[in-house]
Parts: sequence; C-alpha cells; structure tokens
Amino acid sequence: MKFAVIGHPILHSLSPLMHHANFKALNRDDEYIALNIDPNHFHHIKDIINQSQLDGFNVTIPYKVDIMQYCDEIDLLAQKIGAVNTVAIQDGKWIGYNTDADGYIMDLKQNCNIDYIKQVLIIGAGGASRALATKLYDLGCNITITNRSQNRLSDWKIPTEYIALSDINKIDLKQFQLIINTTPVGMSGFNNEMLIDLNHCQKDTMISDIIYNPAETEFLKQAKDLKLPYFNGLGMFVNQGALSFKYWTGIDANREAMKAAVIKKLNL
Ligand code: ATR
Repeated sequence: MKFAVIGHPILHSLSPLMHHANFKALNRDDEYIALNIDPNHFHHIKDIINQSQLDGFNVTIPYKVDIMQYCDEIDLLAQKIGAVNTVAIQDGKWIGYNTDADGYIMDLKQNCNIDYIKQVLIIGAGGASRALATKLYDLGCNITITNRSQNRLSDWKIPTEYIALSDINKIDLKQFQLIINTTPVGMSGFNNEMLIDLNHCQKDTMISDIIYNPAETEFLKQAKDLKLPYFNGLGMFVNQGALSFKYWTGIDANREAMKAAVIKKLNL
C-alpha cells in the first residue's frame, strides 16, 4: 500500500521515517512519502493524490482545515474539531478523521488516571488546542483556554472559559488537574519564554506539552523542578500516526518501533 503526508513545508516531517519503522517491524513493504503541496496548487489536491495512487494520507500544517472540503465523508469527532489530519481512501472515496485528539488521550491515559481530571487549562487556541479541548470536553472535562487573544475561540463548537494569557498568573492554578501547552513556545528553534508560573499548582497537577523536540521544554523543566508529574508530546505524535495506520489498514501499528525511530533520529 502507499501513503503520504501532505503539507507545506514538509521537509522536516518525521512521519515518513516513523511509518517506515512500523512497516519494517510488521514486515510490510508499504511506502510512505512526503508531498510538499504549494498553496497555489492546493486546489488540484484531488488530482495530485489520485496521480500518486495513495491508499491514505496524513495532513499537516497548513491544510488540516482546507482538506475537509475535498472529503466525501468526515467522522463526527473531526467535524466537531473542525480539522482533519488523516484521510482514508476506500474505493475512491475520501474519509476524513482526526487522530491528534485520540492520540493525545491515549497517552494521557498511559500517564495518569483520567477519571480524576475535571478542570483542564490549555495554553494556546490553535488547531491542536481545539482538537484536545473538544475531546476532553466530550470526556466530561471543563475547559479553560488561555491565549494572547480571544478571537481564535469565536468559531469553536464547545463551551470554554477564557482567560487572557497576560492574566494567567493572577488566577488560582490549584483548580486544574491538567495543564497543557499547545503553543510552539519552547519548540526547538522557537523562543523559550515562560508563559505560566506553575508554582501554585496542586502537587499532583499533570503538566503536559505537545512538543516532543526538545524532549523537555522549559515548561516541562519547570514541572520537573517542582516535582509535578509531566509528559511530552512524543506519545501523541506516535499514537496519531498509529491510529492513522489503523484507519488505513485495519491493523494495529507497532508503536514501540515507531517511537524508537523518532527517539533515535532526534537523539531524545
Ligand atoms: P497548531 O495548529 O499547531 O495548534 P496554530 O493554529 O498556529 O498551531 O496555533 C498556535 C497557538 O500558539 C495559537 O494559540 C497562538 O496564539 P495566538 O492565537 O495569540 O496567535 C499560540 N502562540 C504562538 N506563538 C506564541 C507565543 N510566542 N506566545 C504565546 N502564544 C503563542
């Protein structure tokens, strides 16, 4: 079978490497390529994909919303999130899914008992924030979003509390059982300013960052120093890929092989 990730730019995507590690571990001779789609050519996406004879593909920045109009069907969670990161092609029909949110929740469950998580604070209000917030809301959590501006929340389909990022250190963080960073702050090559002071959290507040490179952002280092439980975005990245593979093939991916390939590549 043949798969791809589409995006722009796409050069640094680790998805091909990660998926090939899975194919190898499962003794499959599938192929997974990276397709850089120029925004000026995106309206030809049906032809581009058809010519590549794919069985499915992942979608990354900046096309997770734009791809939706080309799907024949969109799964309910992806509709609610308003973004698709996985397309399965079955008899020429495009079916859109979002595996980011489920990938995150799977990893969250590995790291803590999510029954105790009721109040969640999410830093950032972009696509990743929306995916996680929607899923956590569906699981019964109350969601507070902190962001530089509120206008990003205007078309969200779930209710949220909003607090301006500039005011975040004025509120009582003890109310939250989970705090997630979804901004690129702390990412390799990005600035590393401290967006939030975790000093006043409960001792067992779970701190999570969807960044996995570096393995420990300043945000996570702060959690570590304060002896708070924490985890990074590697599990989410691996899980979203594994779930995509499952949608395409019906087969469980070898997550350990996928994870090991990413760790090796990034020297994590
Ligand atoms: P993704 O799809 O990965 O979530 P995105 O949609 O570009 O990416 O969203 C990035 C989020 O990080 C946004 O909430 C953005 O805040 P704004 O809405 O105010 O732009 C946030 N973000 C990016 N850079 C930031 C910074 N230096 N400080 C704080 N927030 C930042």
